[in-house]
Amino acid sequence: MNGKYYITTAIAYASGKPHIGNMYEIVLSDFIARFRRRQGLDVFFQTGTDEHGEKVETKAAAAGVTPKQFVDKVAGEIKGLWDLMNISYDKFIRTTDADHEAQVAEMFDKMLEQGDIYKGSYKGWYCTPCESFWTESQLVDGKCPDCGREVKLSEEEAYFFRMSAYADRLMKYYDEHPDFILPLSRKNEMVNNFLKPGLQDLCVSRSTFSWGVPVKSDPKHVVYVWLDALTNYITGLGYDCRGNCGEKFGKYWPADVHIVGKDIVRFHTIYWPIFLMSLGVPLPKQVFGHPWLLQDGGKMSKSKGNVLYADDLASVFGVDAVRYFLLSAVPYDNDGLVSWELVNETVNGELANVYGNLVNRTVAMTNQYLGGTLCNKGVTEAVDDDLKAVVTGVYEKVCAKVDAYRMSDALADIMAVFRRANKYIDETTPWVLARDESKRDRLATVLYNLAESIVIGSSMLACAMPAACGKALAEFGSEVRDYDKLGQFGLLPDGTRVTDKPEILFGRLKIKEVEEKVEEMNKAKAAAAAAPAETAKKEESAPEGTATLIDIAKFKEVSLRVGHILTAEKVEKADKLLKFTVRVGDEERTIVSGIAKYYTPEEMVGKQVVVVANLKPAKLRGIESQGMLLCAVTADSDVVIVSPEKPVPSGSEVC
Ligand code: MSP
Repeated sequence: MNGKYYITTAIAYASGKPHIGNMYEIVLSDFIARFRRRQGLDVFFQTGTDEHGEKVETKAAAAGVTPKQFVDKVAGEIKGLWDLMNISYDKFIRTTDADHEAQVAEMFDKMLEQGDIYKGSYKGWYCTPCESFWTESQLVDGKCPDCGREVKLSEEEAYFFRMSAYADRLMKYYDEHPDFILPLSRKNEMVNNFLKPGLQDLCVSRSTFSWGVPVKSDPKHVVYVWLDALTNYITGLGYDCRGNCGEKFGKYWPADVHIVGKDIVRFHTIYWPIFLMSLGVPLPKQVFGHPWLLQDGGKMSKSKGNVLYADDLASVFGVDAVRYFLLSAVPYDNDGLVSWELVNETVNGELANVYGNLVNRTVAMTNQYLGGTLCNKGVTEAVDDDLKAVVTGVYEKVCAKVDAYRMSDALADIMAVFRRANKYIDETTPWVLARDESKRDRLATVLYNLAESIVIGSSMLACAMPAACGKALAEFGSEVRDYDKLGQFGLLPDGTRVTDKPEILFGRLKIKEVEEKVEEMNKAKAAAAAAPAETAKKEESAPEGTATLIDIAKFKEVSLRVGHILTAEKVEKADKLLKFTVRVGDEERTIVSGIAKYYTPEEMVGKQVVVVANLKPAKLRGIESQGMLLCAVTADSDVVIVSPEKPVPSGSEVC
């Protein structure tokens, strides 16, 4: 195969650490990218982080840092996690990259000039976590139809995109490209739920917060986070709506596929194509909306505390085992499940018992019976035909599955090779052949056939488990075989030496041992969290999902005091911020807090609050904030000040 292939993932919100469900998409895309490269395509694989929006602004203010400081830290962690999981991306884009931001402002401007965007005012139900406005009729039981959380009635002056003007063209594109949206069920959902009832114009600016790309001609508005985020797919290639788009854009656009989760198919198959039509840019070839990976026993949710992370799982099972699990656990269009037990079952049942065991037995027998040298002596029997048919037919099958995004089925096909090979060992009983000198050549042929099956299967499995399969191949003096040769049997050269120091590729663990390892891991994390200075610094603005157990000494490092609010006022040009003078014992401190949406200055004056008194000062909108007020943040993003249960002297310690 030759030609180019551009594949993208959704860009992860930089509001916190991505969980194992988010990681599924990245590993899925990585598998495809690796597979296409092996097929000979010139692949560009882009992923990254989505960094603007109200949620980040709120979290940064709550952490006492600027939004930029906040996203720099989180984006670094996300990239680190992708690297740990061996993701072979060609570009990691951040929506705070200067070239992306500049281009977003230009694109908005161009759409405005063309009349695709116009100014109006918006009244509707706003879901803060999803950053989406909804009409009354779109709500489900009065709640956000996407996430089920509380919404609030809001009105704002805003810019709108004339979606309706493009509805017919979009429908035509769907009709002419029947595979544009996969699985098909998701396409039907888009047509029936959104296109047929008539597309509403989309609000594409916000003025209630400022962490975003300002509209050039009207900077009190920032560009709607989805218009900003979706365009990463073209800005990452150097797209320029006013000038020369450069070589990468010319080469790789249109995208061959956008891999996204089922919840954001609407954004990618309705808004995104329409934005592109407005810009006069060709549409992507395909959008695959994958199902989700859910925590066994209920939805993964940070508030429930049942969130699993890829790095934790990898520290117990290894990176490749986690990658394999993710790919095998999620079917084509139904959600999959994850838990420590399920990963352990997969590692034991498939990786250790089927694959690892086959590799190990074949190497051991080659060393024991043939002095470590493989040679095809060509003494065949009928049973070989079935093995060879399975092995030589697998590449074609796997290609068809990869083309259809049926990755768990592709892995099952590869595993079927190893299962067949294990059965072949039982059928041919090499240990019996070894006892009979006259069967030496038959024995050599059997072990050669096994090694050849392993090399062919491992060459494909390497896209799921690059390191482990690389090791397995090396044990047979091999590397990943050219994919255009995977349909042939017998290419392993005679005289190939197997390793005389085989390694166990995947260890088996009892669930009790897994539990012990998890406990150890949690203890190690708690110890790291309790470590002084350096770790403390690291956690100053710990984003969501990084909370670990700490001991009392660590807690004591934080000085919490009761303060009394003397004055409160709004901060100019910062809708979210209030500035307070707070008396803490004998001192008066200036504290800036991102709670303007939840409290008026008037209702704050006179309140007793809990102040983090030994926080390093931070500048917010040019004002030095000398501490932080403690608030409770509810699951539906309400923010409530924490106060002593009855009045106490100012400066009292909270412990
Ligand atoms: N920032 C947006 C995407 C913008 S793309 C222009 C976003 N970010 S996200 O961090 O919330 O999600 C990133 C991806 O992870 C999305 O495709 C989402 O569907 C996917 N997943 C979120 N939870 C998931 C699971 N539990 N399982 C599988 N994928 C999951 O949406």
